[in-house]
Amino acid sequence: MFLVSPNFSDLFTPNIEIKKFPDGESYVRIPDLGACDSQPITLLHRLYPEQNNSLLELLLIIDELAYQKCDVTVLSPYLPYSRQDKKILEGEIASGKVVCNLLAHTGCKILITLDCHFLKGTGDFTHGELPIRNISMAKPLIDYAREQIFKHEPFEVIGPDQGASYLVEHAGGTALTKVRRGYKGGAIIYRDVETLEGNVDLHGKNVLILDDMISTGNTMIKTVEWAREAGAKKIACAATHGLFLGNSLDKLEAISDAVFTTDSILNPAAKVSIKKHFDEHLQSLFSAA
Ligand code: R5P
Repeated sequence: MFLVSPNFSDLFTPNIEIKKFPDGESYVRIPDLGACDSQPITLLHRLYPEQNNSLLELLLIIDELAYQKCDVTVLSPYLPYSRQDKKILEGEIASGKVVCNLLAHTGCKILITLDCHFLKGTGDFTHGELPIRNISMAKPLIDYAREQIFKHEPFEVIGPDQGASYLVEHAGGTALTKVRRGYKGGAIIYRDVETLEGNVDLHGKNVLILDDMISTGNTMIKTVEWAREAGAKKIACAATHGLFLGNSLDKLEAISDAVFTTDSILNPAAKVSIKKHFDEHLQSLFSAA
């Protein structure tokens, strides 16, 4: 088993070079390519920020490794485009599936990722033509809340929408029902939250709101407001992936008691390490090899 990575310097010493040409195109080099020949390879690749460049660079690396007859496992904690998994308006593209097909066609045998938006559970799936193993960070995030935020006082776990059901229900939590508005904006489009509904009594209780990701923060902010109105005591916000666009982290910190994520995407609120969970996976890959 051979590990290669261009950009996981917090977990691993990078051994793939990525540079830029003056026009912005990517230069990719795998100095140890000779050692990879016909080996099973695990490719660790963070795909955010700069997701468009990173995805192209990933495809370039996979293509070369596949040409060297390597079996390539890609380990990327956050899969970009995973929220574009449905066609709602005529002519829209299900970009998540296109990305998965590109990975599969280029030579990725399996993608291992964390709380992938379009997968509604943990375990093995196929999306488009790509086999995917989805690992959940819900338990480590809930454990962090129990120990570091609520100091072993009881707390309720809620998810802002039905997509978060599998994150919260194993812990006895409740997923709300979220209705989004249509797209707003000009060149940059987004969708506000219209309503949140749920049948859970939060009065006087500590609450952990848990989601797969915080992007613009709209969903989490609305859910904090909903929980406050329902009479919640201490409120903590957590997600596997923290993109925190604009000043959403500041806003969330101002209206809640704690905000934290994993370090799947490096950000100032990243408190829960993905390393142990990936390490466990890598161990099982090693022992299976
Ligand atoms: C959507 O269904 C996801 O689970 C998240 O709730 C959503 O992507 C968060 O996005 P934002 O922070 O922009 O509301």
